[in-house]
Amino acid sequence: MNLPALDNDDTAAFERLVRTRRSIRGFLPAPVPRETLESIFGTAAPAPSNCNTQPWQTHVVSGELRDRLSRIFIDETIAQGKHSLDFPYEAKYEGEFRRRQVDVAVLLYEALGIARDDREGRQRAFLRNLEFFGAPHVAFIFMPDWCGIREACDVGMYAQNLMLSMWAHGVASCPQTILGYDADSVRRELGIGDDMKLLFGISFGYADESLPENRIVPDKLSLADAVVFHNQD
Ligand SMILES: Cc1cc2nc3c(=O)[nH]c(=O)nc-3n(C[C@H](O)[C@H](O)[C@H](O)COP(=O)(O)O)c2cc1C
Repeated sequence: MNLPALDNDDTAAFERLVRTRRSIRGFLPAPVPRETLESIFGTAAPAPSNCNTQPWQTHVVSGELRDRLSRIFIDETIAQGKHSLDFPYEAKYEGEFRRRQVDVAVLLYEALGIARDDREGRQRAFLRNLEFFGAPHVAFIFMPDWCGIREACDVGMYAQNLMLSMWAHGVASCPQTILGYDADSVRRELGIGDDMKLLFGISFGYADESLPENRIVPDKLSLADAVVFHNQD
């Protein structure tokens, strides 16, 4: 097979997509048309994976089902503390990792006008997660229960394909670990077997550009901090 000839336009388009994608935390209610959804998810499909196993399965939720899940998350997961997380969140960020976590939280709360000691404000911001930030659609990302960390890496590559594919169609997104906290309810409501495990959800739709929280630009590592080139010469 001959590889297709790519040119500078392809490079520039890719660069623009990657550099302008951001997590969006406020959406317009308008749904994404079905043909666009199919184009987005179709374009994301050819992601690389160990031995081409493609160990992902995506469930896209919209409409009444989306509203019901949001209510369940808020009324049961939060109010009753009913957690069923398939993959425990064990990371305790320290050092530079903790600093980055705090930096992005400060950016977000400043944009929202929430003070450090405003517990109610923080709780409201947290609950927005479970309202999918107003997004009309959520993609729940699953993998089979026999999968381990290698397959989870495959799924991560697929998920980034997916979010870039969304953005290439003008559709914004926010990946959310928090949407995996009640995996049992998601499986029950969507009729999914216990042999599929939920990694996270991605809220998506058209960005509400009037919202200040959608204007934050988190810091990224410099090339020198992220990559070590081991040159031979
Ligand atoms: C797997 C994953 C889970 C995430 N979970 C959440 C979440 O639960 N809530 C949230 O607001 N953002 C969540 N984020 C978004 C990150 O905070 C965001 O990617 C990071 O701050 C960098 O910002 P950027 O996506 O705009 O580059 C998550 C991101 C990833 C990749």
